[in-house]
Amino acid sequence: MKSTPKSRDHHHENQDRIEKLDRKLAELGVRIKDEDSRKVTDEVFDEVTLLALYKLVNKKIITSLGGSISTGKEANVFSASKKNETGEEIGAAVKIYRLRTGNFTTMSDYIIGDPRFSNIRRTHKDIIFAWTKKEYSNLSRTREAGIPCPEPYAFDRNILIMQFLGEGIIPYPQMRQLLPKTPEETYEDAIGIIRDLYQKARLVHGDLSEYNILTGPNGLIVIDMAQAVTPEHPKAYNFLFRDIKNINRFFAPKCKTIDEHELFRTIVGEEFFEI
Ligand SMILES: Nc1ncnc2c1ncn2[C@@H]1O[C@H](COP(=O)(O)OP(=O)(O)OP(=O)(O)O)[C@@H](O)[C@H]1O
Ligand SMILES: [Mg+2]
Repeated sequence: MKSTPKSRDHHHENQDRIEKLDRKLAELGVRIKDEDSRKVTDEVFDEVTLLALYKLVNKKIITSLGGSISTGKEANVFSASKKNETGEEIGAAVKIYRLRTGNFTTMSDYIIGDPRFSNIRRTHKDIIFAWTKKEYSNLSRTREAGIPCPEPYAFDRNILIMQFLGEGIIPYPQMRQLLPKTPEETYEDAIGIIRDLYQKARLVHGDLSEYNILTGPNGLIVIDMAQAVTPEHPKAYNFLFRDIKNINRFFAPKCKTIDEHELFRTIVGEEFFEI
């Protein structure tokens, strides 16, 4: 009986695939240095993602992709460069939602119930694409309301391109690492973000914390907005109350905080009842 060297074939196919991927990434300006980043790269840059990246490079929305800034639960953030209107190279941030390891049950919760996204198909990929688009629209809406957040430049499938928030190639620190002002003043500014998001942008962040607020030279900047919902979302008040509690939890050891029910009342104009 002839034995088929299946595992060997597989090994070769895999090698070929990796080499091809490496070449394509090199064309985009990405270098893979070690085994560790190889694993990450393999997980992030599947074929769909690479194709979307290509489109963004061809359309000259980005000119190259740089190093990794962050590896989160659902997404990877990379630095990148792009040309501005006058042709100068400027920094950009590229957030790639992983198609393989997306935490998409929670995503569905936020998307279903948001009237802006009620008629999307509900396969795994579709939900992640809608999620990416939702972050883009939430960032635009936040900026239109005059609240500091990264300017969104473009999105394609699971990739979001936005303004790079940092000094040179170093991203601004998260609020947990550095407060821009005294704790009292920073607390007031953080509560101001929740209030302005609700009252001016008509959005509830839904994952607000000392990790999702950066400290820039002019004060606090809110990021990570894919999960943000409009006040019509059935859980909007619960998300808002949770955001307030998170900010209070972070500031409680640092300064005097205001009761969370009172804050909710001031922001919304109604009492909060747990449902
Ligand atoms: N526009 C940006 N400019 C500079 N750094 C950024 C930018 N966006 C994100 N970062 C950095 O990457 C980190 C992760 O970004 P973000 O919070 O958006 O993703 P995440 O928490 O991984 O997302 P998720 O929780 O949805 O998986 C941020 O804390 C910040 O340090
Ligand atoms: Mg985050």
